[in-house]
Amino acid sequence: MIDVDAVTQRAIDVLKRNDRGGYTIPTDGLYPYQWNWDSAISALGIAEFDLDRAWQEIETLMSGQWDNGMVPQILFHTEAEGYFPGADVWNCDGPVPSSGISQPPVAVTAARLIWEKDTSLGKSRMEALLPKLRCWTDWFMRWRLDDKGAVFTRHPWEAGRDNAPDWDKSAARIDTSGVQSYIREDTKHVNSDHRPTQKDYDLYVWLLQLGRDVNWDDGAIAENTPFKVADPLMTFITLRAVRDLHALCEAFGQNTDQLAEYITVLEAGVDSIWNPEIQAYDSRDVQTGEFAGSLSCGSYLCWYAGVDRKEMRGQLRNALSRTKYPVASYDIQGAVFDPHRYWRGPTWPCVNLLIGIGLADFGVPEEPKLRRRIRELVAENGFSEYFDPITGTPAGGKSFSWTAAAWLRWARFDTHSD
Ligand code: GLC
Repeated sequence: MIDVDAVTQRAIDVLKRNDRGGYTIPTDGLYPYQWNWDSAISALGIAEFDLDRAWQEIETLMSGQWDNGMVPQILFHTEAEGYFPGADVWNCDGPVPSSGISQPPVAVTAARLIWEKDTSLGKSRMEALLPKLRCWTDWFMRWRLDDKGAVFTRHPWEAGRDNAPDWDKSAARIDTSGVQSYIREDTKHVNSDHRPTQKDYDLYVWLLQLGRDVNWDDGAIAENTPFKVADPLMTFITLRAVRDLHALCEAFGQNTDQLAEYITVLEAGVDSIWNPEIQAYDSRDVQTGEFAGSLSCGSYLCWYAGVDRKEMRGQLRNALSRTKYPVASYDIQGAVFDPHRYWRGPTWPCVNLLIGIGLADFGVPEEPKLRRRIRELVAENGFSEYFDPITGTPAGGKSFSWTAAAWLRWARFDTHSD
């Protein structure tokens, strides 16, 4: 029997311990700053016990927004030891020292869900946030939209799934031999077999240099970069963000014409990332048009974006029957599946939370079953960063904020037994 109250208290403790005053770090040591989509997901968890503090999480994140609308992947509010690449390596000049790329805009949706918990309390805070959230969305639509309407990423760190197999083919075409020398810090904190490889890291740093060399000018990067991959996770999370903004702007009596146009464009983009060969949403290299052939956790975010597809319902049933702890970051029957290496196989509760939100919106009958599996996984193995999808063995960093948030917002509720 799971002691739900005890696990819930531990989840709250994790979020409180990771609170650095106005923002929450993902975990101590490995990730000592504010990360963009981690904060958004953490805010959903925090809203379960402290609504005011949840708003603050999003507000602090938006305080790092650049003049061009971009909201950075990392905000280096303070100096911390043991992280590479730090603010000096990125060399950006936003209002808060930051990295030069963004991350999936979950914060827009989190703001709406937090506001919905108490619309009168959140009225003035939402009014102040709305123009900033719109501006960030405009930035995505201007700089991250491919000619088919899908959202692409320019850096694996921006996509949030650092070493996903989705980038393998595109990465293989890039010669990173000019990469500066650097010392990794991540493998000093956790097992290197559970982390991206050295080759992956070379690409991350090489792409960072490319942006830094042109002072993070989006137009110049767009002309020079060989790395542009349209990705289901980015496309679905952006489409959801735009739908939520549309609803919010309607509620606040603002004009929604442009947002309606964005939705039409992104819906066409969703069709362009359907790969009939694997019968799933898949990543597509923008320059070559080639699909990655990767059934990933990002593929299952279609419902979160308001898109239901019967083939994906079939994939979900398969995922539930093939492994004890789905949805894995990469198909457990896929060619390069690795149960321990980061985004190449492990199950991440944070993404499952988003998948669950989408499934619940559509009343997909498998949602309670998925929730129950993640519930057991976390209750039995703790708030680690990610888990072996077959055995449930925890891996990566411990006491992770967004895993605690996935418990608080979703996994702890049991309305089903299988
Ligand atoms: C890793 C993850 C990314 C996350 C960050 C902080 O880079 O791949 O998604 O935002 O860690 O937890």
